[in-house]
Amino acid sequence: MDQFVIEGGRPLRGEVEIGGSKNAALPILIATLLTDEPCRLDNVPTRLRDIRTTIRLLESLGKTVAVRGGSVLVSSAGSLKTQAPYEIVKQMRASVLAAGPLLARFGLVRVPIPGGCAIGLRPIDIHLKAFRELGAREIADHGDVILSAAPQLAGGRVRLRFPSVGATEHVMLAAAATPARTIIDNAAREPEIADLAAFLVKLGAKVGGAGGSRVVVEGQRRLRGARHRVMADRIEAGTFLIACAAAGGRLRLRGARGADLAAVIAALKRAGAAVSARGDGLEIEMRGRPRPVSIATAPYPGFPTDLQAPWMALMALASGASIVSEAVFENRFMHAAELGRMGASIGVSGAEAAIAGVARLTGAPVMACDLRAGAALVIAALAAKGRTTVQRVYHIDRGYERLERKLCEVGGRVRRVKR
Ligand code: EPZ
Repeated sequence: MDQFVIEGGRPLRGEVEIGGSKNAALPILIATLLTDEPCRLDNVPTRLRDIRTTIRLLESLGKTVAVRGGSVLVSSAGSLKTQAPYEIVKQMRASVLAAGPLLARFGLVRVPIPGGCAIGLRPIDIHLKAFRELGAREIADHGDVILSAAPQLAGGRVRLRFPSVGATEHVMLAAAATPARTIIDNAAREPEIADLAAFLVKLGAKVGGAGGSRVVVEGQRRLRGARHRVMADRIEAGTFLIACAAAGGRLRLRGARGADLAAVIAALKRAGAAVSARGDGLEIEMRGRPRPVSIATAPYPGFPTDLQAPWMALMALASGASIVSEAVFENRFMHAAELGRMGASIGVSGAEAAIAGVARLTGAPVMACDLRAGAALVIAALAAKGRTTVQRVYHIDRGYERLERKLCEVGGRVRRVKR
């Protein structure tokens, strides 16, 4: 298992290219199951493990997929299967989204119920309740769920009990191939939802309200192929912003969209960073220690849960005390103990972490336990005095393309050691 060896204590200076969004690309890749015609997706972070897993999922269901750099060409090689393999779903829970398009097109699908992961149980009850309300019947069978809808899914109105990103995307995917009107109330408002909606419209569906709490989809029996450029990864951009706030310096993030990160940028400004829109991206400058800024994660447009761990790493260095509250996932503070090994002073109680900022973190051997916790440890290591080894970098490779190379290009001293 690869490790990162990081020599900390230097500011970040220069320009970073922000890649395509993992969390937009995954549902959009799965949306190619809605049509038998060829699709081309550009600006896809094809080096990411989760993207490779999704490509294997599409191939296992009967698609032919070619990867050309950051472009993915998906075409049909005959009829699609209606059973997603456990071997793939167990690696990446977003694979479950394949059920929607197959159920809508063929009236029957069998998918493994995704297991939990480090940050929580990750149930899909909201997804399944929505499909029942749209006319599907479900049977649990040996770890799988079989969904059927004869003669097909109906349209209708569903209200999500929580604005789940995956459940919103899942219903949109099924509704796009259902020749009726489907209304989703209390829909998630994340920017990735709007990117998926844009692709579904290119396929021939009508989608209104994406980005708001009510999404309306008018589906079509037959959808066409399309080409789409995936949006920039706002979580990667936010990670680099927070890294610069922690290590100091001045960074330009080419391709980053400030509108996707308003809550994070507001918190960074309160912490003392200068953040501004520059040309086709963002620029951040930071001098001295961050001021303490408490945050509570929330569904978009609130502070994103995926940047909670990086924020905690920044607050570990703040000139005072702050509180980080995690309201989206039930177990997303595992990075606190690893940051403590580097000298951070953090107490966790339930959904709250109390952080007493310290003037200096020191390098130490630490272990990534999930994707964003790993990013938090890299951020802490860049700011710390001395050497840090971050173990289990495969977690980080799920969501950050060539992180070590991008950081080295702006003054970070990060080396990947193959184990
Ligand atoms: C998406 O996960 C993202 N993943 C996550 O990013 C992100 O943290 C999350 O949205 C929240 O923004 C992708 O887009 C691939 P949810 P998702 O459904 O869709 C509970 C990363 O680091 N819930 O909005 O799974 C759930 O347990 C990943 O890139 C139910 O209870 O998130 C969680 O507590 C991590 N029942 C909360 O809702 C359900 O049926 C939010 O989950 C569905 C969800």
